Amino acid sequence: MRKIGKVLVIVLALVMLASVAFACGDETAGSGAASGSGGQSSDGSSGNQSPPAASAAPASPAASSSPQSPPASPAASGSPQSPPASTSVPAQSAEPAAPAADITVESGVLIMATNAEFPPYEFWEGSKIVGIDAEVAEAIATKLGLTLRIDDIDFDAIIAAVTAGRVDMGMAGMTVTEERKQSVDFSTSYAMGVQVIIVKEGSPITDVDDLFDIGGFDIGVQEATTGDLYTTWDLEDEGLATITRYRRGADAVQALVTGRVDCVVIDNEPAKAFVAMNPGLVILETEYAVEDYAIAFAKGNTALRDAVDVALRELIADGTVKKIVDKYIGAD
Ligand code: ARG
Repeated sequence: MRKIGKVLVIVLALVMLASVAFACGDETAGSGAASGSGGQSSDGSSGNQSPPAASAAPASPAASSSPQSPPASPAASGSPQSPPASTSVPAQSAEPAAPAADITVESGVLIMATNAEFPPYEFWEGSKIVGIDAEVAEAIATKLGLTLRIDDIDFDAIIAAVTAGRVDMGMAGMTVTEERKQSVDFSTSYAMGVQVIIVKEGSPITDVDDLFDIGGFDIGVQEATTGDLYTTWDLEDEGLATITRYRRGADAVQALVTGRVDCVVIDNEPAKAFVAMNPGLVILETEYAVEDYAIAFAKGNTALRDAVDVALRELIADGTVKKIVDKYIGAD
């Protein structure tokens, strides 16, 4: 964190020197910097929009406004910050909220990568991404004085987007695992997930043990999810099952409906949503695994991780997170 602070100070100082050297008249220096971040964010959002909604509203309005907001006066936006920069280092470590705008990929914007195929955590409602994660992230952004932008990409691509610094964080009903901890840092956990098994009514699979004891089943999963990882390790690698990986959980469920797979292993809340949409499917009582959901950050990005964590803990403590969860899941 201190290193990042020092690097920031050095960068700011260089920017200030450069703008002084060019007598503030050189617009290309400023717009170059602005388009640099703009280019990154359009990279991030280019992967999205693929899914259902025709217009990727959550990404596009912010994406179109954000490249424009900095260019207004790039040199000027650098100068108010550069003088205090040298003195702001100690302040930074004490107060996470104030500098939040400057610890994100794009100043003032909190870019969250998700995979909006996962009701009730994130899903498209018309031209908007809604759900528990979307609303909790919105509340975090508000606390930090940032504007939330959501990029909808393949679940598979979220961790790479985070580690490459194309986005600030990954929030996608993402389970904390030891493997993922090798590549990202996680926030405090804000929800619990359970991997469950969906079958057709009357299926020979009646609990998790049948997958091992009877064996030979075709299992559908969403690619790169923990449902994929666990069944791959536990069953496929042991020659006990065949795993078919789909881009979306809904595709795996469709494969179950049409008889291409024998069951689907997926998180319990999306499972309930998918079963509600497809008569003839049931969720087995038995649990495949119980896990924690958290927000993923680039390794070592402690400034942002800590700022988000403070906000998230407050939102958990004051009941905001519970209120959002209840709105989507209800008491059942
Ligand atoms: N909890 C599971 C995991 O972390 C599945 C998450 C899938 N999320 C999504 N938005 N599609 O692997």
